[in-house]
Amino acid sequence: MSMRKYVNHHSGRVFGDRVWVLPFVASFVIFITLFFSVISGLFTLPHSKEQLPTDIVSFSKSDDSSGGYFVESDLKRSLEQNRRSRTGAPRLAYLISGTKGDSHRMMRTLSAVYHPRNQYVLHLDLEAPPRERLELASLVKADPTFSEVENVRVMAQSNLVTYKGPTMIACTLQAISILLKESSEWDWFINLSASDYPLMTQDDLLHSFSNLSRDINFIENMQITGWKLNQRAKPIIIDPGLYLSKKSDLAWTTQRRSLPTSFKLFTGSAWVMLTRPFVEYCIWGWDNLPRTILMYYTNFVSSPEGYFHTVICNNEEYRHTAISHDLHYIAWDSPPKQHPVSLSMKDFDKMVKSNAPFARKFAKNDPVLDKIDKELLGRTSRFSPGAWCIGSSGGGADPCSIRGNDSIFRPGLGAERFQVLLQTLLSEDFRKKQCS
Ligand SMILES: *[C@@H]1O[C@H](CO)[C@@H](O)[C@H](O)[C@H]1NC(C)=O
Ligand SMILES: *[C@@H]1O[C@H](CO)[C@@H](O)[C@H](O)[C@H]1NC(C)=O
Ligand SMILES: *[C@@H]1O[C@H](CO)[C@@H](O)[C@H](O)[C@H]1NC(C)=O
Repeated sequence: MSMRKYVNHHSGRVFGDRVWVLPFVASFVIFITLFFSVISGLFTLPHSKEQLPTDIVSFSKSDDSSGGYFVESDLKRSLEQNRRSRTGAPRLAYLISGTKGDSHRMMRTLSAVYHPRNQYVLHLDLEAPPRERLELASLVKADPTFSEVENVRVMAQSNLVTYKGPTMIACTLQAISILLKESSEWDWFINLSASDYPLMTQDDLLHSFSNLSRDINFIENMQITGWKLNQRAKPIIIDPGLYLSKKSDLAWTTQRRSLPTSFKLFTGSAWVMLTRPFVEYCIWGWDNLPRTILMYYTNFVSSPEGYFHTVICNNEEYRHTAISHDLHYIAWDSPPKQHPVSLSMKDFDKMVKSNAPFARKFAKNDPVLDKIDKELLGRTSRFSPGAWCIGSSGGGADPCSIRGNDSIFRPGLGAERFQVLLQTLLSEDFRKKQCS
């Protein structure tokens, strides 16, 4: 009661004093002046009032004519300057990941895709014991070529990675960040696992990419539509790998969520080859789309098959750069088509005929890997040889122990096969299928 009385008394006193009148009149006059100047400003614009909202939208997004007014145009300009400086022989950045018991397979895949121009990051997930990680690191350290060129890194920090969960994306993004920080020179990022293997040499690949626009992303993509949309986008999952220290399966909630309306959902293979500008766009996050989509995918099952795909296809600038292919030969079990089958001798011809640079998946030390080494890679010692290996190979010596100029390539039959695939992928007909 006394409180209320006080308030009444207080306001009454203020009104009584009329201290407010002068400031009120002054601000009212200012308000009226501003209001009329805005209104008259609007009507002197050449456009009609209806066009204004769309103007604002395009202004804040990516209208070049807005240059200079907003921070985004500065960011865009500095990115473009970065991009222009990339010429000459290309460089690739590889992530090779594995789990418990994979360290030897990872070393084999690494040796098969090794080239001194490239960058490599190896990640053994948290299921592998520390001893194995240490062993992998010491294998890398003991290699004279790796320690001279300093382009192979083993991640000491290992992540708990759940198959089909967002922790896989987090791990890939972390590896990309490391590669971006450690080397300013590479052009494409490639994602491999311990059970992947190349079907052509790095000389074949680097030679073929020399001629290619550095803006092309290889990422299999298709829009999720129809009944699949309900089935894929409504369930909500939780990846315990985000907060538990022991591996367990994805948890499914009983709640379902509605379909997104502010972006479209795309899906495709989890194996990608992405350009440096596009991964910088994803990692730096000065545009909010990659971050928003990342948060959305935290609760999406099979996020590695959708994250980059949805980001790239919802961005006007990048969607035209997405070529819908994952550069892998993968054979799926039939009919469920859910799991890749292990490749063996009987698949050799199909692998070669696919003209793809990589294949998966292979069992550890499957004999077909020896056949690939011998017939496709010409690998007789540690590395798949290239023009950079200028030592003698007589008497079982390793020609790559002496390194020559690494921007000269010696393309072979692999490059010819890849050229055939690239011709298809870059054709008008194929590119029409981008992000649709
Ligand atoms: C990257 O590679 C791994 C293979 O270790 C794969 O499982 C994963 O889904 C890939 N893709 C992404 C986007 O992380
Ligand atoms: C590169 O492009 C040029 C001109 O388009 C062409 O003549 C040449 O054969 C190409 N080289 C390769 C390796 O594709
Ligand atoms: C390596 O080869 C490239 C291309 O032929 C040439 O431009 C460059 O000067 C060479 N570098 C060295 C160190 O010889």
